[in-house]
Amino acid sequence: MNQAVSAFGAEASPREFLMTQADFDRIVRIAHETTGIVLSDHKKEMVYSRLARRIRRCRMSSFAEYLAVIGKDPDETNEFVNALTTNLTSFFRENHHFEHMLATSLPELAKRNAGTRKLRVWSCAASTGEEPYSIAMMLKEFGFDRSWDVKLLATDLDSAVLDTARKGIYNEDRVRGMDPKWRDKYLTRGADGQWSANADIRSLVSFKRLNVLEKWPMKGQFDIVFCRNIVIYFDKDTQRVLFDRIANQMAKDAWLYIGHSETLHRVTERFEGHGQTVYRKIK
Ligand SMILES: C[S@@+](CC[C@H](N)C(=O)[O-])C[C@H]1O[C@@H](n2cnc3c(N)ncnc32)[C@H](O)[C@@H]1O
Repeated sequence: MNQAVSAFGAEASPREFLMTQADFDRIVRIAHETTGIVLSDHKKEMVYSRLARRIRRCRMSSFAEYLAVIGKDPDETNEFVNALTTNLTSFFRENHHFEHMLATSLPELAKRNAGTRKLRVWSCAASTGEEPYSIAMMLKEFGFDRSWDVKLLATDLDSAVLDTARKGIYNEDRVRGMDPKWRDKYLTRGADGQWSANADIRSLVSFKRLNVLEKWPMKGQFDIVFCRNIVIYFDKDTQRVLFDRIANQMAKDAWLYIGHSETLHRVTERFEGHGQTVYRKIK
């Protein structure tokens, strides 16, 4: 094992792989360019441990050797991106958004779209699927009848989390804390103790890989967008461009839900606030 000392400082313990400041700076640059994620110096430890796993798996001996393949080998570049994303999520995270859907946005959209009988929802950082499945539960719960065409697009940059999301199977600890009323209605517990999403909610969701910084293939406009706990990793300029593009992709008066530590203040004026992290498109 290479016992090289990393560039973390004199007090740092010996490291398995050498990561110099130049390596870290390069990682920061690539991560920003490809994902929008800003990695500050205090993320060094996190970056080290996440990428060390990949370096070990690739049977390489340094960050420099590993970084030489990033950008050249598409599979490993994908793994690099997957390793740097933070995928924390849960069913009904920030539950007030789901309550708002049932009480306000869905009843209003049901009236507004009564002519077209079409509803489009986008979860743009779907992670392992708990968020889009929670949305799908609310869509089902609201009870659009068969004459309605209701679709939920769930996207994420990270291909690994999307694989989990598509499977729709969760351990007991992933559903702990979820209201049993929703859990027992929309998930089924298998003999192995795992919970799987029922067909009625699965059928509403399409999972697709999409980097929100790149070109979007979607043609139509959305009535509801969940863009939660993703822009916290982006700088303000990236947030400005993203929310402008999101507004362009939303119908008039459409609803936007953002994460608890995110804000549109000094980012965009195209939305107006309707309570805690709930917005409506105004222009
Ligand atoms: C912390 S999770 C949030 C999940 C969910 N929205 C929630 O609030 O529970 C952030 C997600 O954003 C995704 N992400 C990061 N950068 C992205 C990008 N440029 N395009 C699309 N997704 C991205 C990550 O892969 C990760 O799954």
